Amino acid sequence: MKISSLNKTCILLVLLLATFTTLARGQRTRVGFYRATCPRVESIVQSAVQTAVQSNPAIAPGLLRMYFHDCFINGCDASILIDGPATEKAAPPNSLLRGFEVIDAAKAQLETACPGVVSCADIVALAARDSVVLTGGRRWQVPLGRRDGLVSQASDTANLPAFNDSMSVQIRKFADKGLNSQDLVTLVGGHTIGTAACALFSYRLYNFNNTNGPDPDINQAFLPQLRSLCPNGGDLFRRVALDTGSVNSFGNSFYENLRNGRGVIESDAKLWSDRRTRRFVQRFLGRGQPGSRFNSEFGRAMVKLGNTEVKTGRQGQIRRVCTATN
Ligand code: HEM
Ligand SMILES: *[C@@H]1O[C@H](CO)[C@@H](O)[C@H](O)[C@H]1NC(C)=O
Ligand SMILES: *[C@@H]1O[C@H](CO)[C@@H](O)[C@H](O)[C@H]1NC(C)=O
Repeated sequence: MKISSLNKTCILLVLLLATFTTLARGQRTRVGFYRATCPRVESIVQSAVQTAVQSNPAIAPGLLRMYFHDCFINGCDASILIDGPATEKAAPPNSLLRGFEVIDAAKAQLETACPGVVSCADIVALAARDSVVLTGGRRWQVPLGRRDGLVSQASDTANLPAFNDSMSVQIRKFADKGLNSQDLVTLVGGHTIGTAACALFSYRLYNFNNTNGPDPDINQAFLPQLRSLCPNGGDLFRRVALDTGSVNSFGNSFYENLRNGRGVIESDAKLWSDRRTRRFVQRFLGRGQPGSRFNSEFGRAMVKLGNTEVKTGRQGQIRRVCTATN
């Protein structure tokens, strides 16, 4: 069958229009962005993460949290990596972040393999995925093509959710990033790996909200356990698993702990005590399908987080080193 030349012209016009609207809207991240320009990007990042996590398992949660803190402030643009006195990295909510040296190591190798091509923001996104996989989570494909930002200000970190934010504030902070309550519950499931310093929750154990007693959300049997890990007046830098009994293993056990009053930080405990989020926690409870549901939904939520306010195309730059703009 022959297509008439009028039809051909029509098809051509539609294609042109589609191209222009895409350009006008800005480019999107996509899987395989570096296929032609840096085909080894994923294996280079993965081996840097693997080496680091093998020698120190605490690096995996560090890299996962780094991605969240990067993406939440100015989009995932590696603004978290900039060194300086008043940058995001220097702000209190980021003071305990770990794994920066892994990003630098991967970047150094990438600059040898394909100079000036791979953004630091994409390295952070890949390293977060690889950390989840290394701790037993399900793999997802990471859309790439982010550009590195030029701005990093300590004051912007006030928009990060805090451990003692009310649920309304947490929900609002996520909504400001285009993330709903279900995304919130799914993403905070990242707390299935890693630890928190006593400094960030010991107020719940002894004199919560001026009651001279503990936070009633804490399980009675769990309380002595937490108190012995964080004695009143003890070492505030001591670190305690966020997912008791499963700190190095990625899975839905975190939600089981929430249901059992074994959330460690206040914001986690509220995911269960607040009815707006409890129903999403319930979806992830149980063995078999619910557990597997969390693992697959986590990857989807991470991709969504990774596309909020993202810079692509000609925005920003590709940094030469991740700790400073060019
Ligand atoms: C309401 C939102 C959130 C709040 C209030 C929150 C708060 C916290 C706090 C207070 C800590 C302990 C930090 C420390 O003592 O070093 C922590 C650790 C952590 N967070 Fe979150 N977080 C939130 C969401 C997320 C999300 C969305 C992710 C990832 C997708 C994430 C991943 C982590 C990880 C992996 C750790 C452990 C870090 C380590 O062991 O070094 N968090 N979070
Ligand atoms: C949360 O804790 C910080 C200190 O760590 C305090 O300055 C702030 O007022 C607290 N916020 C709420 C909502 O209680
Ligand atoms: C703290 O105490 C105040 C006053 O008693 C009360 O209104 C508030 O709901 C309490 N907050 C929490 C988180 O329990």
